[in-house]
Amino acid sequence: MKFRKRFRYLFLILMAVGALFLARKYFNSMYESPYISVEPIAMHGSGKGFAGSNRCIGCHKDLYQSHIKTPHFLTSREADSVSIEGSFIQNNSYLLNDEIIFIMRSEEDGFYQEAFSRLDNALIDSKKMDIVIGSGTKGQSYLNWEGDDLYQLQVSYFKPSKSWVNSPNYPNGIFAPNRPIRQRCLECHVTFAKSRNTFNKPHSYDRSQLIYGIDCERCHGPGNEHVNHHLSNPNETEALYILSYSDLSQKQRLQSCALCHSGTQRHREEIPFSFMTGDTLMDFPNPEYDSSSLESLDVHGNQYGLLLASACFKGSKSMDCVSCHDPHKNQRGDLKMFNAKCIACHQGTGPGGEIPCSIEMDLRKSKDNNCVECHMPLTPSKSMSIYDSKDSLLVPVEIRTHLIGIYE
Ligand code: HEC
Ligand code: HEC
Ligand code: HEC
Ligand code: HEC
Ligand code: HEC
Ligand code: HEC
Ligand code: HEC
Repeated sequence: MKFRKRFRYLFLILMAVGALFLARKYFNSMYESPYISVEPIAMHGSGKGFAGSNRCIGCHKDLYQSHIKTPHFLTSREADSVSIEGSFIQNNSYLLNDEIIFIMRSEEDGFYQEAFSRLDNALIDSKKMDIVIGSGTKGQSYLNWEGDDLYQLQVSYFKPSKSWVNSPNYPNGIFAPNRPIRQRCLECHVTFAKSRNTFNKPHSYDRSQLIYGIDCERCHGPGNEHVNHHLSNPNETEALYILSYSDLSQKQRLQSCALCHSGTQRHREEIPFSFMTGDTLMDFPNPEYDSSSLESLDVHGNQYGLLLASACFKGSKSMDCVSCHDPHKNQRGDLKMFNAKCIACHQGTGPGGEIPCSIEMDLRKSKDNNCVECHMPLTPSKSMSIYDSKDSLLVPVEIRTHLIGIYE
């Protein structure tokens, strides 16, 4: 009798455990989809895979839609009638010298730069425009594939004059063979390019692993594992397998932009594309500029150096590029928004910058009280300049200086 009672209890317990087990399995299957594993579109040297930004849309739709309008996203693309800004109908030539003229031609299978002899109209050279570099804010350069080898073409486009020009760094007036495009050039203009490591050809690439634009994963790191994880665990609200900017120090945050926005400083001796957000750049001292070394700083691409030399940066301790720029938005021309950033520090609550502008409002009104116009004036670039015709002088591009200060 006692034995049968015990047996019944044991049986009930076993039943209960079994039922719990089955229920758990059932509920789990409701909440947990099978692990989703999509192969990466390219492999970074660190062993991490790139997903491509079209796989971010599902969960970060608003950020994605805003991001694709930025000059970052548009800075390198396949050449087509949308990405190429220059005209193929009017003003479609560039006079190189007395012997040679370039004509830009749109054919059925693509867009070409063709060099003709001016003496007998004979075709000297014809090159297809395969890749566009530059969103077109100031200008664009064009690249050409020869097999797996990548070259820059001789004719570029200059936005301020809306004309075809001699590419920067190409000798003026001289017909030059293609200029090889090495990884260093792409490093600032694409998300990822994989060198084929051919000994005598540093401009040879694995074409199946080229990711255009400065895309999400250029700043946030390769995200294939993040995407697979969150697709498999749709209820997870905490980000996994992706770097968080909020964990970074001020120096790391600044350097994630300085990688491309500190001009030609020699700090990138490591392998191209090896730097990832969160790393600190090698041989990269925090510069302490004095007025004499400022002369050698250029406005082209050196926003980092100039900002660090500004009183705002030195006095505020916490400033970085994101203090004024939203990296996911195209903010060009939104001076109202930029001025609000200045005012936030200079008329009250900002860190240490409670000093307001010291000139009369009447004087400020002459420039619509536009802080940026007076304190970050447009300045001609020393390194970014072009010849817009064979006889012209070097025409510099004008860029906003990031040396925030008092001018005139
Ligand atoms: C299946 C959904 C999903 C996809 C697809 C996805 N993410 Fe996320 N991501 C999340 C979730 C959930 C979080 C955490 C909540 C949040 O911050 O929105 C997150 C957060 C982030 C964060 C912030 C991290 C932090 O802690 O500050 C970044 C950066 C990020 N994702 C980048 C990407 C990129 C880049 C892609 C595309 C390559 C991508 N995500 C695709 C779900 C996804
Ligand atoms: C991989 C290189 C790279 C990184 C990293 C990078 N940038 Fe850029 N940035 C560029 C290039 C190249 C352009 C020019 C794009 C064009 O117009 O073709 C640019 C343009 C810009 C512009 C001008 C946009 C306009 O309106 O024309 C701003 C502002 C900017 N970057 C801010 C930042 C900030 C802030 C960071 C860090 C969060 C950053 N960048 C990181 C390469 C980079
Ligand atoms: C160290 C990073 C870096 C390298 C290397 C670099 N660029 Fe740039 N480039 C930039 C930045 C940053 C800008 C935006 C200029 C600015 O506003 O200061 C830019 C602007 C441009 C623009 C004008 C874009 C526009 O929309 O107005 C073109 C074209 C361009 N670069 C082509 C090239 C080519 C071709 C190479 C290689 C031969 C190259 N760059 C190498 C960082 C770089
Ligand atoms: C030029 C570099 C850059 C690019 C490109 C970029 N981000 Fe960011 N992202 C940042 C920085 C810097 C922050 C931190 C902003 C801050 O601290 O205010 C950030 C923050 C985030 C966050 C967390 C905070 C937030 O704003 O919700 C998410 C999520 C995110 N990025 C996703 C993306 C996705 C998705 C893309 C592509 C569609 C992308 N990012 C492209 C630099 C970049
Ligand atoms: C994060 C806060 C902060 C922001 C944003 C900021 N500043 Fe400043 N600014 C400061 C501090 C701090 C100082 C130094 C005050 C001192 O030295 O006593 C300063 C100094 C200055 C000076 C004096 C420069 C000199 O050489 O004497 C000018 C002019 C100035 N800022 C203009 C601007 C303008 C214009 C903007 C917007 C584009 C701006 N600031 C954005 C904090 C800021
Ligand atoms: C105090 C505010 C402020 C800070 C901090 C700041 N910027 Fe800017 N930046 C501006 C303003 C204002 C413009 C002009 C925008 C325009 O004309 O539409 C600008 C323009 C630019 C441009 C385009 C230049 C041109 O004329 O084409 C680039 C590139 C840029 N910033 C990069 C950076 C980087 C990288 C950092 C960090 C090292 C940074 N900025 C920090 C205010 C700031
Ligand atoms: C018409 C040009 C102009 C405009 C617009 C302008 N400023 Fe100024 N600002 C000046 C000049 C010039 C000085 C130097 C006056 C002097 O020598 O005392 C100055 C001085 C300053 C100083 C240094 C004050 C000190 O006591 O050292 C700050 C900070 C400043 N401005 C911020 C701003 C801010 C923020 C805005 C936008 C709300 C702005 N400025 C708009 C021309 C301008």
